[in-house]
Amino acid sequence: MSNYDIAVIGAGPGGYVCALHAAKLGLSVALVDEREALGGTCLNIGCIPSKALLHSSELLTAMQNDAAANGIALAGVPTMDVPLMMARKQGIVDKLSGGISMLCKQAKVRVLQGHATLLGSGKISIAGKDAGEITAKDIVLATGSSPVELPFMPFDGKRVVSSTEALSFEAVPEKLLVIGAGAIGLELGSVWARLGSEVTLLEFLPQIAPTFDADVSKYLQRMLVKQGLSFHLETKVTGCEVKDGNAIVSAEKGGNAITFETDKVLVSVGRRPNTAKLGLEEAGVTLDEKGRVETDAELRTKAAGIWAIGDLVAGPMLAHKAEAEARLVAERIAGRKAPPLNHELIPGVVYTSPEVAGAGLTETQAKARGIEVKVGKAYYAANGRALASDAADGFAKLISDKASERLLGVQIVGQSASELIAEAVAHMEYGGSAEDIALCVHAHPTLSEVLKAAAE
Ligand code: NAI
Repeated sequence: MSNYDIAVIGAGPGGYVCALHAAKLGLSVALVDEREALGGTCLNIGCIPSKALLHSSELLTAMQNDAAANGIALAGVPTMDVPLMMARKQGIVDKLSGGISMLCKQAKVRVLQGHATLLGSGKISIAGKDAGEITAKDIVLATGSSPVELPFMPFDGKRVVSSTEALSFEAVPEKLLVIGAGAIGLELGSVWARLGSEVTLLEFLPQIAPTFDADVSKYLQRMLVKQGLSFHLETKVTGCEVKDGNAIVSAEKGGNAITFETDKVLVSVGRRPNTAKLGLEEAGVTLDEKGRVETDAELRTKAAGIWAIGDLVAGPMLAHKAEAEARLVAERIAGRKAPPLNHELIPGVVYTSPEVAGAGLTETQAKARGIEVKVGKAYYAANGRALASDAADGFAKLISDKASERLLGVQIVGQSASELIAEAVAHMEYGGSAEDIALCVHAHPTLSEVLKAAAE
């Protein structure tokens, strides 16, 4: 069969979720991806493998730092077998990717492997394993994004690398220089620092993790410095040269030139939408000034019958945002009403130790909008569960509108912040106040009581 109700291009968390949801709504679906393994960047070379490495390296650190105080005697100094750690990571990725293939089979989603190009009028050509042409009434573009390269230091996969290679180093580099202290730089910098690399991060802005308030970022930075990572803020990278197998990176900080000699450089300065070689222009799909596919509020592109979701379009480049958009678009194509996504309530998480998570407005953003705010903070150090779990570092911060009491934003730095933020999102989705959180009974002893204490 080569005619479908929907053809989805890209099988990441946007594309495969859209395909499965559309199938559930009774539509016939084709899902096209260049990779054999389904799951896109998130599953194959992003969110999931990084979380696997973060877990392994966190275990090692806990053995090294906390075992003795917990009464655990270890026979020797715990060390990491890097190939085994990588094999565990790949096992998790393969299992999840196989799971998606199975779900597609069960839902009768036709999976096609190859590079898709739009030919106009609902036609798509596929080059690769499943070469040929298909047609669809609606097409959903979900091709994701790729790491941004610095023009003067292109990726060579060995010395100058992206997150893809930094998730698969065969051995612990002696020195790792990270350019950009956002989510990728902080997470992968943490992994390799825990395994023994000397990790230095260079950040262009005056704070790390710049989507969070400065007090949260500063706190996180202090914790990471304690773990051995070093930072140069307000530092502009100006050049890179590879000499005698090492990379020599030059930068500028406060008007002074500095150089760094390192085994590897991880460039993590953001990602850009994958819009090339899709036949977008010919099909009438337009791009905005940032190179993203232009859509209306319901994610329709300028070309009739073509939709776009995830990292390709405006909003944070996050798997859960792509997933949410995927469902909404499938619903709309099936003729149902689905309200636009509120980008402000999409939680952002950095999986360092401690984790940082936020949703809604930061204090800085709220003030910039002229809103008079009330801020509540509570610390992990006063929480019984945190102390019992060797997790006394961190705090929760709630920002509410002074006049209406409505909760505007929440940021948490501390263990399990990634899980705790869900409660904050739910309250904000329902238009709740800090008092609403305070009035909900929270189990004791739990880390969620930190959020409740901040609300009180
Ligand atoms: P990012 O946008 O999160 O951070 C990039 C950082 O690099 C920023 O702090 C920026 O100020 C800095 N920067 C930019 N140009 C620079 C330069 N020339 N020199 C020094 N610093 C520079 O980008 P990142 O970390 O590469 O991640 C890419 C995308 O993937 C983001 O949208 C991120 O949210 C997403 N992601 C999300 C994760 C999560 O949810 N935990 C994990 C990994 C990635």
